[in-house]
Amino acid sequence: MSSQGLFISFEGIDGSGKSTQARLLADHLRDTGRDVILTREPGGSPGAEEIRALVLQGDPDRWSAETEILLFTAARRDHVERTIRPALAAGKVVVCDRFADSTRMYQGMSRGDLRGVVDSLHDLMIGLEPDLTILIDMDPSEGLSRALSRRGAEERFEDFGEDLQKAMRAGFLALADEFSDRYRIVDGARDVEAVAADVRAVAERFGSLRPA
Ligand code: ADP
Ligand code: TYD
Repeated sequence: MSSQGLFISFEGIDGSGKSTQARLLADHLRDTGRDVILTREPGGSPGAEEIRALVLQGDPDRWSAETEILLFTAARRDHVERTIRPALAAGKVVVCDRFADSTRMYQGMSRGDLRGVVDSLHDLMIGLEPDLTILIDMDPSEGLSRALSRRGAEERFEDFGEDLQKAMRAGFLALADEFSDRYRIVDGARDVEAVAADVRAVAERFGSLRPA
């Protein structure tokens, strides 16, 4: 890899298979000899994991939309400082399950139009975008039933139900259009291995355009 490393994020609605596919891609890239960090948001560093518990557990109305933007951005700042930038500087591939596009969608859309606030804070405090974002796209009814079947303490956004997930799916497809340089869309409504094969192909095609 180049000394700049490579930053790959996965996005999509809850239950679309991002975590599964991020793990499989990280395993595949390691098998091909690359140095890979698999990480996730919110979280990915000790401080950000503490913030994760604050935003994903407890009463869904615990925070206002604006406070939530600050908390997710604070978590991301710590994650970028402590985990992502050092890994990229060491030439590693960073595979991240969700990144700033999730804030653009969930905090930017779910309780009024706050996309401008999300983007301003992102520019001020983060200023980093993935080189490649893989959108695992699928119908929300399937994603939601998958997400609910592994229900745990972190239920925050899954609780908003199918209408919001439908809006999120449309929103992610619009983001893919807005950031078409870095976005690639993969159909997630197939068996795990079929999706993984497409994800590998996308990453390899993208990686082959980069200096080795
Ligand atoms: P996400 O990170 O997008 O919420 P996960 O990877 O955690 O999604 O998957 C949600 C649930 O669906 C898990 O129980 C997982 O084992 C299952 N799952 C993931 N991908 C598929 C697939 N292609 N087909 C069927 N079930 C899947
Ligand atoms: P995640 O653990 O990826 O959930 P899932 O596996 O169900 O997709 O993310 C947890 C929740 O956090 C998810 O509902 C989306 C939400 N989220 C935001 O609202 N804003 C953000 O910036 C991020 C990163 C996640």
